[in-house]
Amino acid sequence: MKEDAAEKLIQTARDVRVHAYAPYSRFLVGAAVLAPSGKIYPGVNVENASYPAGICAERAAICAAITAGERSLLAVAVSTELESPAAPCGMCRQALAEFGPDMHVFLTGPAMESMVLNYRLSQLLPHQFGAAALNKEGSDRA
Ligand code: THU
Repeated sequence: MKEDAAEKLIQTARDVRVHAYAPYSRFLVGAAVLAPSGKIYPGVNVENASYPAGICAERAAICAAITAGERSLLAVAVSTELESPAAPCGMCRQALAEFGPDMHVFLTGPAMESMVLNYRLSQLLPHQFGAAALNKEGSDRA
């Protein structure tokens, strides 16, 4: 993946983090996903007084991309307040795998100077459960 595309994705995740709605945990998360079209879709965590009704930033970004008509994803970037970057939760790893089983995963802190960890999703979620297990084709279909 090209370095400037990765930089733009990572910076989008950092920029959008301030829009997170996290009055309960106070843990603001920004995410951005990159589609093959070159478009970037941001997302933030959106919490709720009924805690399980909240959604993580990564899944919010996936929803934005799919809503716009995308059907696969090349990369995701996640920004939190932690200088030692946080990794996506298990549910988000599974949700990401649906649209890019081996996508790039960039994990970073809040600032331009923050360190960036660079993974592939297959490292964070090995032995994936996917459409093939259901004898379905998955993300290219409606
Ligand atoms: N959160 C995310 O948005 N992404 C993750 O990968 C981990 C956790 C959110 C959920 C909740 O709003 C807050 O962070 C604390 O768990």
